[in-house]
Amino acid sequence: MSLYRPVKIGSLEIPGNLFLAPVAGYTDRAFRSICWDNGANFSFTELASAEAISRKHGRYGLDPKDLSQGRRGAENAEEDKGDDPNIISINLIRRGDREKLYAIQLFGGNPDTIYQAASLLTPLKPDALDINSGCPVPKVVKNGAGSALMKNPANLGRIVEAAVRASRESLGNIPVTIKIRSGWDSSSLNYLECARIAVEEGAAMVTLHPRTRAQGYGGRSDWSHIAELASRLAVPVTASGDLYTPEDAQQMLSETGCAAVMFARGSMGNPFIFSAARSFLETGSWEQAPFSERIAAAMSHLEMLAADIGERTACLEMRKQFCAYTKGITGGAGLRDKVVRAATIEEYRQIVNSYKS
Ligand SMILES: Cc1cc2nc3c(=O)[nH]c(=O)nc-3n(C[C@H](O)[C@H](O)[C@H](O)COP(=O)(O)O)c2cc1C
Repeated sequence: MSLYRPVKIGSLEIPGNLFLAPVAGYTDRAFRSICWDNGANFSFTELASAEAISRKHGRYGLDPKDLSQGRRGAENAEEDKGDDPNIISINLIRRGDREKLYAIQLFGGNPDTIYQAASLLTPLKPDALDINSGCPVPKVVKNGAGSALMKNPANLGRIVEAAVRASRESLGNIPVTIKIRSGWDSSSLNYLECARIAVEEGAAMVTLHPRTRAQGYGGRSDWSHIAELASRLAVPVTASGDLYTPEDAQQMLSETGCAAVMFARGSMGNPFIFSAARSFLETGSWEQAPFSERIAAAMSHLEMLAADIGERTACLEMRKQFCAYTKGITGGAGLRDKVVRAATIEEYRQIVNSYKS
C-alpha cells in the first residue's frame, strides 16, 4: 500500500499526508496557496500571539474588528515588521486564497488568553487550531509560551483544554492540535508525557519536532522519538524534522509509523516538494521542477504578497524567499546579488527576464 494516504484528525478528513509546517517569516498566506497549487494537503499559519489577538489594541495589535470585518490589514503592514511578537496583522492568520484546509497556530502561556483569542477566530473559519509548544525564541518562552509549555505540562494541559472549550463553543468544534519538541533540554525529554496530557485534554493530533529547545534548529532531529510517540498515541502523530527530499519523507513514514509528514525548511523556495513527494511515494520516482517553474512560482508569490502587505514591504520580504527559490540553480548567485537590491515588482521582473539559465 502506498505511504501516501489520508489522515483523519478528529472530525477533519485530510485527503493526503503531506503537510506544510508553520515557519515564521516564510509560510505567509501567499506561500501557503502556492504550496496548495503544488500538492500540499494541509497547512499551518506561522505562530500568532494569542495575547495580540485577544487584546483590543487598535493599530498596535490585531483589533477584533479586523477579524469580523475581514479587513486585509495592509495598512498595518509596517507594524508587522516590528520585533514585538504581540503585534500582528490579520494577514498572518487569514486563509490563503487557494488554501483549502488550514490551521491557525496560536502561542500563549495563559489558558484564559488562549480561550479568548481562539473564541475570536470564528469569522476566519479555520479547519483546525494548533497550539505552539515548540518555539525556542526568548521573547516567546519568557512568557511561558512556546517550548516553555513543556517545562510546565500541567499548564500545557490547561492551554489545550481552553482551546478545546473555545473550539466547541465558538469554532464549530474544529480539532485542536499541538506541536511539541522532544523536551526543554536533553535532561528533560518529556514529549511522551506532554503528548499524553494534550491528548487527555482533547488534542486530536500531535506534531513532534524531535529536537530539544536547547538544540534550536541545529544538529539532527531524533526520529526515534517520533516512532516512540506514534507507537503510544491513539491520535495521529505528524512528523517534523530534517525533511528535505521526497526520499526523506518516504523514510520518515516507513521508519516511524507517523501518520503524516510536515515540510518546513525543505519547502522554503521549493513548494514543488509536495507533488514530488507524492509522486515518489506513489510511483517510486520524481522530477525536479525546472527553473522556469521555480521563477514563475517566486513571481506569483511576490505578487500575492504585495496584494496583502503592499509592494514595498513585499519586495523586501521576498528577498530572502527569492534566495531560497534560486538556491542551487546555475547562475543563481548572480541573480541573488541583483535581487537583494530590487525594490519594486517591475525590478524583480526585469532581473528575472534578463537571466539566462
Ligand atoms: C525560521 C523558522 C521559523 C519557524 N517558525 C515556526 C512557527 O511559527 N511555529 C512552529 O510550530 N514551528 C516553527 N518552526 C519549526 C518548523 O515548523 C519545523 O518544526 C522545524 O524547522 C523542523 O523541521 P525541518 O528540520 O524540516 O526544518 C520554524 C522553523 C524555522 C527554521
